[in-house]
Amino acid sequence: MTQLSAAQTKPSDSSKALYGGKGTRRITVRDIALAKERGEKWPMLTAYDAMTASVFDEAGIPVMLVGDSAGNCHLGYDTTVPVTLDEMTMLSAAVVRGTRRALIVGDLPFGSYQEGPVQALRSATRLVKGAGVGAVKLEGGERSHEQIRLLVESGIPVMAHIGLTPQSVNAMGYRVQGRGEEAAAQLLRDAKSVQDAGAFAVVLELVPAELAAEVTRALHIPTVGIGAGPETDAQVLVWTDMLGLTGGRVPKFVKKYADLRTVMGDAAKAFAEDVVGGTFPLEEHSVH
Ligand code: KIV
Repeated sequence: MTQLSAAQTKPSDSSKALYGGKGTRRITVRDIALAKERGEKWPMLTAYDAMTASVFDEAGIPVMLVGDSAGNCHLGYDTTVPVTLDEMTMLSAAVVRGTRRALIVGDLPFGSYQEGPVQALRSATRLVKGAGVGAVKLEGGERSHEQIRLLVESGIPVMAHIGLTPQSVNAMGYRVQGRGEEAAAQLLRDAKSVQDAGAFAVVLELVPAELAAEVTRALHIPTVGIGAGPETDAQVLVWTDMLGLTGGRVPKFVKKYADLRTVMGDAAKAFAEDVVGGTFPLEEHSVH
């Protein structure tokens, strides 16, 4: 007889769903594990400030990533490489303050964990104590195994990140990862390695959809896809891409749900024209 999965044997309880559920307390990594058992898909968005984060929290987004994509999308750098731990701590603290329910994951920036597990623990402790995040994320598969293991043993939940790892842009560029037999086998080894080290989830960035599906089936922790096709357990997008605020080209895998760049630009022009034309402020905006 084939064994029934947990999702088949337990009655589904939609009030516990990560998205659309009724809970009001902060989501934890245990809730994330239970969602995988239930076979539930969930959304994750990046956030870099309290106000945007509060909008996503009220919309029910269960997990927010204070990604080092803040480098490109918030701080005006060309890549994520220059982002510092001080900057990540400040941005992560703001996102924590702006939210009540979402699990907040803070990214460890380039140079804050590559030296080894002890440096990783020092940096992660800063994000957990200084900013109040519920988990941290770091890049790398087998090469980050020991860092993940020490953080998890120390009580810090870790989301891993494999496939395209933007902190290594100077070495790998922005190219699809895991193409070809050897690269696909390495990606699978990386995924198993971070799971064995104790990661509670793993981001798969820019990998073929078929490979992402295979990794998702092979792991008991959830996979979070970005440019990894439809079969991962969760999906993440950078919020400025998803809401159409990013200027210039965005990657092919982004779906634009709004055009904030046009909305904001038009509003700024309307304000400027009112001021120049003397139609703002009016009597209703004035005090006497
Ligand atoms: O920094 C970030 O926003 C990320 C996501 C793209 C996964 O790592």
